[in-house]
Amino acid sequence: MDFVTTAQTAALRAGAFLKDHLSEPREITFKGAIDLVTEMDKHAEKIVVDTLLASFPGHGILAEESARIESGSAYQWIIDPLDGTTNYAHRYPVFCVSIGLTQAGAVIAGVVYDPVRDELFSAEKGKGARMNGKPIMVSGCTLLDKSLLATGFPYDVRTSLEDNLDYFATMVKASQGMRRSGSAALDLCSVAAGRLDGYWELKLKPWDVAAGSLIVQEAGGQVSDFSGLRFSVFDTEIVASNRHIHAEMLDVLKAAQKNDTGRASV
Ligand code: IPD
Ligand code: CA
Ligand code: CA
Repeated sequence: MDFVTTAQTAALRAGAFLKDHLSEPREITFKGAIDLVTEMDKHAEKIVVDTLLASFPGHGILAEESARIESGSAYQWIIDPLDGTTNYAHRYPVFCVSIGLTQAGAVIAGVVYDPVRDELFSAEKGKGARMNGKPIMVSGCTLLDKSLLATGFPYDVRTSLEDNLDYFATMVKASQGMRRSGSAALDLCSVAAGRLDGYWELKLKPWDVAAGSLIVQEAGGQVSDFSGLRFSVFDTEIVASNRHIHAEMLDVLKAAQKNDTGRASV
């Protein structure tokens, strides 16, 4: 069985499980002041990992809620079983399952499933991006001024000076509008599908961006760090766009950078 088909099966299974249990009471454990995890994250992760390892028992696993499985294989699955866990815990229906596959550290396949809208995004390196089997493309918007953007805020927002608030304030004024969905993987898929023109965030983890960053690139978009020079899922910052507004986004972020690292703590 091929990689994408197996990842799709895993994402569909875990997504159906999450959707079926959305309205039930749940047990919440806090990893930090506002960083939470539910038993649903862990159960969804088990569904994904079991499905992937049943087809590819020798592959490595890097999943958010459990210890890394080192296998010595060149292939490693990078899994966020529930991206949007704060939404999920509040029964706000915006969340997804995100599964990326790396080969020697480079992402070669990605699947993101939104069970609420029944939208299955996927990409394979060099083969384009799809939603529910149909090819998707980034938007053609060429001006930041006319762009709809998204971002998110880190879990240490209460205590860190690098809280994204100055970047956010600057972008609110530079763009047509800003959204904060609560799911980095869905934000990336929205850029890929042309629903958003750009997205940025800091302090993300590999499982937040592994699948979505490939889906954006395969849909014709651009992904980089804040310098615009490189991107790795193991870095903590990401700027993703339809390519046309990328340079303008980087300029605005650069102009706001001094403030976002130097503002007095409140
Ligand atoms: C979070 C979401 C959110 C983003 C956070 C992520 P989680 O992932 O993607 O949109 O702003 O930075 O950590 O905790 O829901 O898996
Ligand atoms: Ca996440
Ligand atoms: Ca998660």
